[in-house]
Amino acid sequence: MTNTSRFDGQTAIVTGGSRGIGLATAIAFSSEGGNVLVCGRSQDTLDRAVSRVESEIGISAAGHVAGVVADVTRPEQAQRMVESAIQKFGGLDILINNAGVGRFRSVSELTVEDWREVVETNLSGVFHCCRASIPVMKKQRRGWIINVSSLAGKHPFAGGAAYCASKAGLNAFTESLMQEVRHDGIRVSCVLPGSVDTGFAGQGETVEEPWKLSSTDVAQAIIDLLRHPSRSLPSRIEIRPSRPRG
Ligand SMILES: NC(=O)c1ccc[n+]([C@@H]2O[C@H](COP(=O)([O-])OP(=O)(O)OC[C@H]3O[C@@H](n4cnc5c(N)ncnc54)[C@H](OP(=O)(O)O)[C@@H]3O)[C@@H](O)[C@H]2O)c1
Repeated sequence: MTNTSRFDGQTAIVTGGSRGIGLATAIAFSSEGGNVLVCGRSQDTLDRAVSRVESEIGISAAGHVAGVVADVTRPEQAQRMVESAIQKFGGLDILINNAGVGRFRSVSELTVEDWREVVETNLSGVFHCCRASIPVMKKQRRGWIINVSSLAGKHPFAGGAAYCASKAGLNAFTESLMQEVRHDGIRVSCVLPGSVDTGFAGQGETVEEPWKLSSTDVAQAIIDLLRHPSRSLPSRIEIRPSRPRG
């Protein structure tokens, strides 16, 4: 692919595609002709996301975007999500593991449920989705897996133990998997954003913080990655606000 080529005929799954970075990525991919299946845990939000993609892209997106309820912490739902993509669009070329949650409390205040939710979504969820997708990609000897991690995975901070550990684990997981499947024609990479202006972890989307990255900036980094020629594998991309709050 060249830097200007489109994604006509290619299919991507974007987990956590109902809002934020996932929705921006789905819109960007769809605007370049790709088929996209977004997942999340609520049918209502997915319906709104599909309408949003269709209204942003126009008539050309009709029939090329779909939503499926799937909780990535559940291996059988991850499997069904992959089967839906194949059923709806005839294949799976790209898996974007973006679904994530954050619970920010000191270790003594974190509940066992907080810990489990964060680790099971941000780390085990990625494992379940990869495990369901890799056999399909191996068979076609081609595929892309992009994991949306965080700079928090390499710069841990107080109050972020569960989140930072889940993303550090995800970085290690991504690198192992990258080495494991690259000879099968599957490229694996992770994108590590700094602060992004979404409603992540309960931060209101209504409070404007112009110094932060926008979800479209991260989507652009993901689309740029997908455009690399097949011989090239940028295996880790860091993206941060150019002028962080002082
Ligand atoms: N915002 C930031 O500052 C920032 C910085 C660095 C990295 N990131 C990472 O970027 C990714 C996206 O974050 P965002 O800011 O766009 O967050 P967001 O606006 O809160 O969106 C999160 C998405 O994940 C979905 N989701 C959560 N748990 C899920 C599960 N168990 N199964 C399926 N879908 C699930 C949510 O949908 P439902 O709730 O409807 O299921 C939603 O679509 C996350 O991995 C996050 O860690 C964010």
